[in-house]
Amino acid sequence: MTSTFPDISISTERLVLRPLEEDDVPALAEMMNDEQVAAWTDVPQPFTEDGARAWITEHAPAERTAGRGLHLAVTEFLTQRLVGIIQLTRTNWHVRSTELLYVVAPWARGEGYAAEAVLATAQWLFRDQEFERIELRTAADNTASQRVAQKVGCISEGVLRNACIAHVRAEDGTWTDTRTDYIVWSLLPEDLEGAGEQLAETGGFTSFSDWN
Ligand SMILES: CC(C)(COP(=O)(O)OP(=O)(O)OC[C@H]1O[C@@H](n2cnc3c(N)ncnc32)[C@H](O)[C@@H]1OP(=O)(O)O)[C@@H](O)C(=O)NCCC(=O)NCCS
Repeated sequence: MTSTFPDISISTERLVLRPLEEDDVPALAEMMNDEQVAAWTDVPQPFTEDGARAWITEHAPAERTAGRGLHLAVTEFLTQRLVGIIQLTRTNWHVRSTELLYVVAPWARGEGYAAEAVLATAQWLFRDQEFERIELRTAADNTASQRVAQKVGCISEGVLRNACIAHVRAEDGTWTDTRTDYIVWSLLPEDLEGAGEQLAETGGFTSFSDWN
């Protein structure tokens, strides 16, 4: 039997992480049409609403049911606006390890949302899903992403030389591929001990597995 992640909702002090819904199409498309997303991720550019709909209705459910991962919408608890996404991918159920990626909408950056969402996801993975390792890969020059990894307590493990294709804007405005290194980070349950206490002080997290 294939192991799969449940359809869950995770609440933090300011955020609700939940499955992507078709209503998220416009906000997801808008969030992904961004210079930083174009530079550091493989999200196709321009990212259309059709692309967003296919992601939400086809790609994300297929990833979950195949056991490869989980895509979560990150929303503001107060406004219910979509502020970002968390993606678990390349999940290895035998090792109980998964890779984690994140994007936060340009308007919501610098508020600590990425770190808060990653931390809550990590706590859920370690406590509820009995995972033992989360891996992050950040492009060597992606300072904001590295800062997020550091803030949640990830340990930098090394460099995958030449393993990353990032994108730079050419003079004519088109994007071209550029090769760079990946920094590999990992988070283990024991790395969260300090961070977990901090999060607990701000209310901790709650997960609901009966979503839908
Ligand atoms: C990386 C990303 C998710 C961060 O989201 P965020 O919600 O702003 O993250 P946080 O607020 O939790 O933390 C960002 C940290 O990076 C810092 N930072 C942001 N831009 C920076 C820059 N250019 N140079 C140095 N530090 C920077 C912020 O000051 C903050 O650190 P601080 O809390 O110590 O002040 C967001 O920038 C993004 O979506 N980027 C495009 C997609 C991407 O790169 N995804 C990661 C792929 S691995």
